[in-house]
Amino acid sequence: MDNRELVEIAKKARENAYAPYSNFKVGAALLTKSGNVYKGCNVENASYGLTVCAERVAISNAISNGEKEFMKMAIVGGFSEGHEREISEENIQEIVKKDMQESEDVLIPCGACMQVMSEFNPDLELILLDTMGKTITINLKELFPKPFQL
Ligand code: THU
Repeated sequence: MDNRELVEIAKKARENAYAPYSNFKVGAALLTKSGNVYKGCNVENASYGLTVCAERVAISNAISNGEKEFMKMAIVGGFSEGHEREISEENIQEIVKKDMQESEDVLIPCGACMQVMSEFNPDLELILLDTMGKTITINLKELFPKPFQL
């Protein structure tokens, strides 16, 4: 399974995202050692804190199917059509700040998801893509070198 195929599966999963509160839709596709792919999308809730990210849904899906050897995860995220971020003065400042920090302007998984990924494979390969088509491939270790450990 190449990265392009995995991204296509993540895009399909993103179509199922339930994100009526943020309008930010995320899809994830997790490739396991056995060659199976498990999908996930974000599932929001009126009680905002109950929202689950696409990455953790994909991981739960794999685990509940008896798999825990993870190779790669493709993650596709972005605002849904008609909800693209408006370029208000506030946002322009945000963009300038990002440039100064030289951060990549692609979706980076949240810390909670990285902690959960790390539990199973701290070396997980991540393929990150935004809806503008910008993409990077990065190792989880690089983004999240020091997970919490018991
Ligand atoms: N979200 C994900 O699904 N994955 C991430 O890596 C970051 C955020 C979701 C949670 C929420 O439904 C929406 O994106 C906006 O935060």
